[in-house]
Amino acid sequence: MRAIVCSRYGPPESLRLVELPDPIPGPGELLIRVRATPVNSADSRIRALRMPSPLFSLAGRFALGFTGPRRRVLGTEAAGTVESIGPGVTRFRPGDSVVAVLGMRLGGHAELARVRESGPVIKKPESLSFEHAVAVPFGALTALYFLRDIARVSAGQRVLVVGASGSVGAAAVQIARHLGARVTAVCSTLNVETVRTLGAEGVIDYTRDDPFSRRAEFEAIFDTVGATTFARCKDALTPTGVFLPAVMTATEILQLLTTARSKGRRVRSGVTPERPHDLATVFDLVSSGALKPLIDRVYPLEDFVEAHRRVDSGRKVGSVVLSFPSPPAV
Ligand SMILES: NC(=O)c1ccc[n+]([C@@H]2O[C@H](COP(=O)([O-])OP(=O)(O)OC[C@H]3O[C@@H](n4cnc5c(N)ncnc54)[C@H](OP(=O)(O)O)[C@@H]3O)[C@@H](O)[C@H]2O)c1
Repeated sequence: MRAIVCSRYGPPESLRLVELPDPIPGPGELLIRVRATPVNSADSRIRALRMPSPLFSLAGRFALGFTGPRRRVLGTEAAGTVESIGPGVTRFRPGDSVVAVLGMRLGGHAELARVRESGPVIKKPESLSFEHAVAVPFGALTALYFLRDIARVSAGQRVLVVGASGSVGAAAVQIARHLGARVTAVCSTLNVETVRTLGAEGVIDYTRDDPFSRRAEFEAIFDTVGATTFARCKDALTPTGVFLPAVMTATEILQLLTTARSKGRRVRSGVTPERPHDLATVFDLVSSGALKPLIDRVYPLEDFVEAHRRVDSGRKVGSVVLSFPSPPAV
């Protein structure tokens, strides 16, 4: 199979498209012929070992590999057809179209990917293309976890989504709205209309206005891109409001600990869990029309360097997706 390999941490040009042996599905595993896979902020972070601080970079080397990632094929999600199944697989058959979250096991940026049947993998809704289906989980699972599980956003609450045009932000606007919240989105001039179509009641263009100059207005501020700090947005929170940074530096970790028992304004965050039932939930939201995937651009597999450059720019609108050619008919 062909796979995009990251042998050393570095820029997009350090990636290579190479031939690797075809993987064989083990017990309880499916082998997916990948048709589409996103290049997301996690892939870009791992490839470049771009961490919020030098201390995190050192921790990253221990966790991921010292000179390059131990798991050389990146890719946290994949959509495709089941090529074969390992012993004990009961829910899927060869030929099924599926969407899977590989998470930190990675491996989506290849023509074939191994997926655990017990993990987050579901049949792809027929109404969605592989490209649109695979653009859903990364942002939506994160938004669901932060808004529903951490902040427990409920109907009528006011939520500010910072970075509303990114993968996580675009899903956050829609999921907060689905939870009944009144959503204000923060983005630049270029993305105001896009973000409004996602369902934001108010939009603040951060190039013209300071989104955090409001006083005691929001029950939750979800900073999906590391654009602000607790100190800067604190006054915009209600007295019991919660600041949710998706990107944590040492400062946020400290604030999270020091405000843990507070009933006042506080910081809450975490790492998105990879749960099968959450994947089902986000695709239910897609089926009901509450959540629409937002795609920045689809690149052919061979343009993986360009795709990574686009993600590195920090300007993508929704998801960047790599599309794989369909296998020849037999
Ligand atoms: N904690 C977790 O479990 C978890 C899970 C997933 C992701 N994350 C983290 O979440 C972060 C966001 O991921 P993502 O994939 O959603 O990012 P992304 O798609 O790469 O974000 C790009 C978007 O951010 C917007 N943006 C950039 N600077 C901004 C600013 N100052 N204010 C408002 N918007 C701004 C850009 O719009 P403009 O060009 O208009 O500025 C662009 O549309 C990543 O750092 C990732 O590591 C954390």
